[in-house]
Amino acid sequence: MCGIVGYVGGQSALDVVIAGLKRLEYRGYDSAGVAVLADGGLAAAKKAGKLANLEKELVERPLPSGSTGIGHTRWATHGAPNDANAHPHLDNAGRVAVVHNGIIENFAALRTELAERGHELASDTDTEVVSHLLAETFSSCGDLAEAMRLVCRRLDGAFTLVAVHADQPDVVVGARRNSPLVVGVGEGEYFLASDVAAFIAHTRAAIELGQDQVVELSREGVNVTDFDGAPADVRAYHVDWDASAAEKGGYDYFMLKEIAEQPKAVADTLLGRIDASGSLTLDELRISDAELRETDKIVIVACGTAFHAGLIAKYAIEHWTRIPCEVELASEFRYRDPILHQRTLVIAISQSGETMDTLMALRHAREQGAKVVAICNTNGSTIPRESDAVLYTHAGPEVAVASTKAFLTQLVACYLVALYLGQVRGTKWGDEIHAVIRELARSAEKVELVLETMEPVRALARSLADKKTVLFLGRHVGYPVALEGALKLKELAYMHAEGFAAGELKHGPIALIEEDLPVVVVVPSPRGRSVLHDKIVSNIQEIRARGARTIVIAEEGDEAVVPYADHLIRIPETPTLLQPLVATVPLQVFACELATARGNEVDQPRNLAKSVTVE
Ligand code: F6R
Repeated sequence: MCGIVGYVGGQSALDVVIAGLKRLEYRGYDSAGVAVLADGGLAAAKKAGKLANLEKELVERPLPSGSTGIGHTRWATHGAPNDANAHPHLDNAGRVAVVHNGIIENFAALRTELAERGHELASDTDTEVVSHLLAETFSSCGDLAEAMRLVCRRLDGAFTLVAVHADQPDVVVGARRNSPLVVGVGEGEYFLASDVAAFIAHTRAAIELGQDQVVELSREGVNVTDFDGAPADVRAYHVDWDASAAEKGGYDYFMLKEIAEQPKAVADTLLGRIDASGSLTLDELRISDAELRETDKIVIVACGTAFHAGLIAKYAIEHWTRIPCEVELASEFRYRDPILHQRTLVIAISQSGETMDTLMALRHAREQGAKVVAICNTNGSTIPRESDAVLYTHAGPEVAVASTKAFLTQLVACYLVALYLGQVRGTKWGDEIHAVIRELARSAEKVELVLETMEPVRALARSLADKKTVLFLGRHVGYPVALEGALKLKELAYMHAEGFAAGELKHGPIALIEEDLPVVVVVPSPRGRSVLHDKIVSNIQEIRARGARTIVIAEEGDEAVVPYADHLIRIPETPTLLQPLVATVPLQVFACELATARGNEVDQPRNLAKSVTVE
């Protein structure tokens, strides 16, 4: 949420900052702004709407060139998304500029206090108090980093702050609490950003900042302290993907590219984790086998799409390990006094590693003595850093707001954890576990097969562009898949979409069925759990008898569904527990195409932003 870039070095700061903001626009696109230090002063520009509006403004009213600057792309929290509320925010003398991600909870009291001292605040934001406080504090201490430390000690809430002051022309200062900020280290140039994507075209050397730290960038280097000024420990790391990974690569949308990348993402996430004998090696788990054997309860916490991955994981974990598993929305978990103890294993799933609700849930779990394993896609992010262990998904950067490849890799990681627990604990499903590991190793090629057959799904989606509602049904692991299909359609096509457990239909939702209502049904494999299959075939008949237009996702060779399917989408034969890996893909394609047909912005859906860093 909110993209932040800061730069000091030898290049035009404006060019570097705008290019960085373009890569961060997925984090928020309500308004954008920049500030550069030039000619002994500070020049700023900001504009409501997408970054393109700001770029147009900069062509009409160019800023002087300078080599130190900051920029921001906003997802509005306090105040409407207009020019006045756009960042950066300046003090009354126009000497300090500040950009911010997060929420300053005590801003109202600070605002009153500043007004009493004669400050005039021009926006409705919580951020503006910081520029005024920094200006005041700088005037007494004469150093921006020290001023930032002193101001941060007065702020409550979550924040990443990045600031420049006209009296320190080669310095950019940043601070972070509960909100992301990384440093990029180039040759004689340094970057600050919410995400490495902003500077990956310049350097792959990054520094992860810790909680409650202030960083000062100058041409001489990087200095990091805590809020009291004591030198702080930081971790340097190398970003393992390059700029091309965060570009569209010939696709119209990032989402299309990311859907297409799924076979590779799945294969990369499995890479090195299955040994030659077909057993799992998860060295990075860093929780001893003895502790894993003692685990008597698993709790999964996550939000949105990651939560759906968790719901699917529950079926796998309970089946293969016989350990009771709860799955909970992270935003609910921490506020209901959950029962946790030292034998509880908490799994926190997050693509970004920055989702505030998930972060707060994992902190709460650790405070209660539980061990936390993160499943995460972003190296250097907060959730893995604060967990006892992490299993990274290797999806590469996910830029489209709607999660696709991250979801599939989260599933893979969940299966790996479940199978590993099964392997370590030696459950009665030993043979099945080995067979499933072999199947999992083949999942990337199956996803590839699904992608090759998506043209009819696109055509179907286009034909439904004027519909108002689409329902999704599933049973067992197909139920979370239905929820995920509905979520994708809501967020991208802005249509009413709901997922139901098919068995629940007769308990209420069947009243929604009317003539020609599209209902997507995810059908489990007819092999193995055939009772489940037969039940859902009955459900399809029931809704079709009431006029629904049935869109059936079923395995190759499943002939039982053919008479009841108005549209049939085939997926490869896959063991039931792994079926979500292939059954979700058509739903992603369906939502993406339907949104495009309705003229919506697929990569940047309205009101949303990727990486939700506020609660
Ligand atoms: C939906 C979507 C969101 C995220 C959710 C959690 O397409 O992307 O629902 O899944 O905000 O985000 P992470 O995984 O970054 O914690």
